[in-house]
Amino acid sequence: MILKYYYSLLFVLLMISILGCSKQKALNTNVSSPSGNIIIDFQLKDNGTPIYMVQHKGKTVIDTSSMGFEFQKQAPLVKGFEIIGDDIKSYNETWEMPWGEQREVSNQFNELIVNLHEIEIPKRTLNIYFRAYDNGIAFRYEFPEQEGVKEVIIVDENTQFNLTGDHTCWWIPGDWDIYEHLYNTTKFTEIDAIAKRDHPNLAQSHIPENAVNTPVTMRTSGGLHLSFHEANLTDYAGMTLKVNKEKLMMETELVGSDRLGYKVKRSLPFKTPWRTIQISEDAAGLIASKLIPNLNEPNKLGDVAWFKPMKYVGIWWEMHLGKSNWDMASGKHGATTENAKTYIDFAAANNIGGVLVEGWNTGWEHWIGFEDREGIFDFVTPYPDYDLEEVVRYGKEKGVEIIMHHETSAAPRTYDQQLDTAYALMNNLGIHSVKTGYVGKIIPKGEYHHGQWMVNHYRRALEMGAKYEVAVNAHEPIKATGLRRTYPNAISREGLRGQEFNAWSIDGGNSPEHLPIVAFTRMLAGPIDFTPGVFNIKLNPYKKNNQINTTLAHQLALYVVIYSPIQMACDLIEHYENQPAFQFIRDVGVNWEQTKVINGEVGDFVTIARQERETGNWFLGSITDEEQRSLKIDFNFLEYNKEYEAIIYHDGQDAHWNDNPTSIDIEKTVINNSTTKTFTLAPGGGLAISLKLKD
Ligand code: NOJ
Ligand code: CA
Repeated sequence: MILKYYYSLLFVLLMISILGCSKQKALNTNVSSPSGNIIIDFQLKDNGTPIYMVQHKGKTVIDTSSMGFEFQKQAPLVKGFEIIGDDIKSYNETWEMPWGEQREVSNQFNELIVNLHEIEIPKRTLNIYFRAYDNGIAFRYEFPEQEGVKEVIIVDENTQFNLTGDHTCWWIPGDWDIYEHLYNTTKFTEIDAIAKRDHPNLAQSHIPENAVNTPVTMRTSGGLHLSFHEANLTDYAGMTLKVNKEKLMMETELVGSDRLGYKVKRSLPFKTPWRTIQISEDAAGLIASKLIPNLNEPNKLGDVAWFKPMKYVGIWWEMHLGKSNWDMASGKHGATTENAKTYIDFAAANNIGGVLVEGWNTGWEHWIGFEDREGIFDFVTPYPDYDLEEVVRYGKEKGVEIIMHHETSAAPRTYDQQLDTAYALMNNLGIHSVKTGYVGKIIPKGEYHHGQWMVNHYRRALEMGAKYEVAVNAHEPIKATGLRRTYPNAISREGLRGQEFNAWSIDGGNSPEHLPIVAFTRMLAGPIDFTPGVFNIKLNPYKKNNQINTTLAHQLALYVVIYSPIQMACDLIEHYENQPAFQFIRDVGVNWEQTKVINGEVGDFVTIARQERETGNWFLGSITDEEQRSLKIDFNFLEYNKEYEAIIYHDGQDAHWNDNPTSIDIEKTVINNSTTKTFTLAPGGGLAISLKLKD
């Protein structure tokens, strides 16, 4: 009897250990970051649904979140899986940016691949790649080649992000078209994108649900910073994140196509974009991270020395102020040969490499307000008062490059038809960059700027650019997802509320806190063509009811704070005459050896110092929101034992973004790496410092 009991106990124990083992082997796995501070746990629930969790220093930051897909004509891929393989590999590489915030980028992570297989028919397979970095995590799905499934038509991706608290969030509405919204600062449970839908000036926005666009940045009650985005958006729909307030949960809501009735159509095999979470103890660490470009493939264009980072001026702000027009029939055409030459002369005299000319080509009389915009814009035919070849020739003589402009009016098929000839023309003329625009609702109806169809259109333009040695700066773009690593000719883009809003917005323009939020949200995705540098802050006499809501010193600081390899000095050139502060724009670099994020809090202030490539000079920019602030800056980032001639541009004592925005003091001094100084930034103010190595 006793023996029998003993044997049955042994049997039970044996079974438990067998089941235990197989359960452990088959049902969960994990990967930790190189330092071990971040861990991603992966499991299958009892019903075989894949779930993941993320911990930071032993604390859960993303709780049980499930993953899956729904399709047209196929059963959902959400449960009934078993793990048939898992493997971890470590990577550690350093790559060089041809231009960027820094020369060298370190890319170190551990990668876990989980191979999943449906136990029951149709027995499909799905792989998930997880990458654990010391400053964040990422994962993507792979639909491998398999029997019986040639293609999938995705109607929903159900990736969840289960938050562990009601975090403070900096968000814009989950808009399928544009990203030109002001950021909101609310608790997660107070996110209301629908209420933000009726936005003045944003005729083209489409916000179907309570969702947010990415990057969306959050701070936990414990002070940890999280930012959610995606990397390597290739042949797939852009991701917005649906807000579930009750569950403190976000879930992917892909941008769809009303015309095609699905979100994504792909043949197998393929991989989705990475879903990314930056994790940082301080806000500054978010900006310092290169997680997003790191998750993209290496440069596939090879030598791109044909493009040079540069500052530029242009025939542009004058249109937004109403001084001139794009359209020749208006009687005040801005893009004339003569006007372009004036800008070229100004650029040549002021250490500015480029001149943008908008409104040079035919089609503008049939732009905003017209539904039938197909076949209207012509990207090779100048208006009769603009001699393109002569302007380019004159620019060359003066050492100034012309920047091409293509407003597609969101008629991508018309643009596609002309892509080859238009880019070949630039190549013939020796023009190496183009600013594109996609203003309005996409034609055909039912497509959106961030759907798969448009993702592929923007990519074709980039590839055509690569073929003809043209770099692309897209406005109303597809969001940045780090593709600049693979296609360095994706130099910059808009995809946020730019400076232009201040000229025509009827809601008061961008508030002083706009850019102190942008630096920790939109800028995490990649370079921004914000077009700073307005000196005529009150926009008189052109726009009596509009103004820029920052001080002049804040405008200068943006050349350092906001990264882009092209930076516009956007004001009318006459507004730069006899302005001592313009010296900062003449001097400031656009291409950096290294970057130090010195301090910052999301939505409050940020200070960044960048060292220029080639010269070794440093530039520092600091901006604040509507609050006045004293910031102590330690110049210990400067090279040891070297002296720097500093020019400090700071807000005057009585400066204020509204009451006295142009009050600025300029001071010359010598600074070295043991200097510390305290500066006061005015409400809406800033600080800009150039630090030139003394010889
Ligand atoms: C929108 C761009 O953001 C703006 O900079 C440009 O002037 C207009 N489109 C015209 O293309
Ligand atoms: Ca725009």
